[in-house]
Amino acid sequence: MARHTVATQPIADQKAGTSGLRRKTRDFMAPHFLENYVQAVINAIGGAAEKRFVVGGDGRYFNDRAIQVILRMAAANGARGVIVGQNGILSTPAASHLIRKHGMDGGFLLTASHNPGGVDQDFGLKFNMANGGPATESVSDAIFAQTQALSAYRIFDAQDVDLAVIGQTRLGAMTVTVVDPVVDYAALMATLFDFDALRGLFAGGFRMAFDAMHAVTGPYAKHLLEERLGAPRGTVINGTPLPDFGGGHPDPNPIWAQGLMAIMAGPDAPNFGAASDGDGDRNMIIGRGAYVTPSDSLAVLAAHHPHLKGVARSMPTSAAVDRVARTKGVACYEVPTGWKFFGTLLDAGLINLCGEESAGTGADHVREKDGLWAVLSWLSVIASTGQSVAALMAEHWQKYGRNYYARHDYEAIDTDKADAVMQALRGSLPALTGQSFAGLVVTRADEFAYDDPIDGSHTAHQGIRVIFGDTARVVFRLSGTGTAGATLRVYLERLETDPGQLDQPTAAALAAVTKAAAAIAEIARHTGRQAPDVIT
Ligand code: G1P
Ligand code: ZN
Repeated sequence: MARHTVATQPIADQKAGTSGLRRKTRDFMAPHFLENYVQAVINAIGGAAEKRFVVGGDGRYFNDRAIQVILRMAAANGARGVIVGQNGILSTPAASHLIRKHGMDGGFLLTASHNPGGVDQDFGLKFNMANGGPATESVSDAIFAQTQALSAYRIFDAQDVDLAVIGQTRLGAMTVTVVDPVVDYAALMATLFDFDALRGLFAGGFRMAFDAMHAVTGPYAKHLLEERLGAPRGTVINGTPLPDFGGGHPDPNPIWAQGLMAIMAGPDAPNFGAASDGDGDRNMIIGRGAYVTPSDSLAVLAAHHPHLKGVARSMPTSAAVDRVARTKGVACYEVPTGWKFFGTLLDAGLINLCGEESAGTGADHVREKDGLWAVLSWLSVIASTGQSVAALMAEHWQKYGRNYYARHDYEAIDTDKADAVMQALRGSLPALTGQSFAGLVVTRADEFAYDDPIDGSHTAHQGIRVIFGDTARVVFRLSGTGTAGATLRVYLERLETDPGQLDQPTAAALAAVTKAAAAIAEIARHTGRQAPDVIT
């Protein structure tokens, strides 16, 4: 086995977005692309000598090949050991847990989350740090700087490591420990939830459907729900991970989880439905006739949390959780989009619950959002209250008011046009306050920036906010996870506290806010788009 130092050149544009480096699979498969990025990560963290890493991914196309490259590079860079999920599989929260549990120096997570998989679809690589969470902004910047200065990478010439067999092998001086991807994660869940109470729920005839969307959570959900908690076989649907996720978008929302939506709308609908995404960090929660928005889900979990210390949400997430935090007298932090911004607050013990409007909910047990954790959290609330999802939502809105909420995505816009929308919005900010749109008066308009209260870092340009008093808000921002063109996201929100108005269709409740957003941003004029591509 020979160690090579391979000469290379910087590859332009290897800049990570909201969640790691995400590109077309074929880009990752191009000569040196993956190798350059891995070496840039290793250089940015001060080398790999004597370090230990977790490596695993969501099983999408190229996952298996990329892992072999990472192993050979880690070994060639002097790493002491790696823990790999069997067959290269680890959900994102399970990888985060393994990093923390074994005190590893970090982890390489191969996933493009909810983006489709396949040779013509998307691939991604994310580096997580010793706390189990995604690389912070400053580490991401250092990685990018390394990608631009790279002249060589180190790699072993070696046979593939057999990742099908659990146990320990060696690659040069580096130990490779192949672990069952589910066992440690399931053990962690058993410490967080009252499994007896959950078993009681299913023993009493409670029925649920969990849609794993042909992605990574299939084995985790089957083990936890069917084997440990006694839900009937077949509770988990689409439960075998496939490299192309069955050709779908493994994104748990009413648009892409259509199979589950149909089951929940059927005459014999189970009591509860849930889904998770490609890499297992997102979740969708739905009851009979009651889809729960992620923002509301966060608020309900906060309201029923037995030991809430503090909460945080990403800026575009609705203020539903803020209202719960106020009532409970705990702090509520507003951070930029992306899970990496929750890390310092979780590490400092300021919060133990956080979430994003994009189907992400999580806590301090790992440093990633966690789809199955969210599902078990909801089951726990249902078990302890004995109430249906619909009843829980009705009660919540009666008590706290309802933050009607929707996100409108304009996808694959020319980057120039998307930039034009944002530039025009930026330019209009100083004059917006005091103006009225669709009967709503702007009380504040700004571009969100964040000062981390723990590490003091400053993050600018995190979305344009237009606020209408205490009740309504529009946010505009560009996605940082796409792989083609730009995606413009428009987040719409309005608080309703009139007890007789809590059951409106969302589009109707948001009609004025939607109109105001159109007038403010002039999306049709800048982009030619008359309507969003996806509404969630
Ligand atoms: C999207 C979501 C964001 C989430 C990220 C990774 O990022 O909006 O909340 O953290 O995916 O799952 P975006 O494409 O908006 O940059
Ligand atoms: Zn994900």
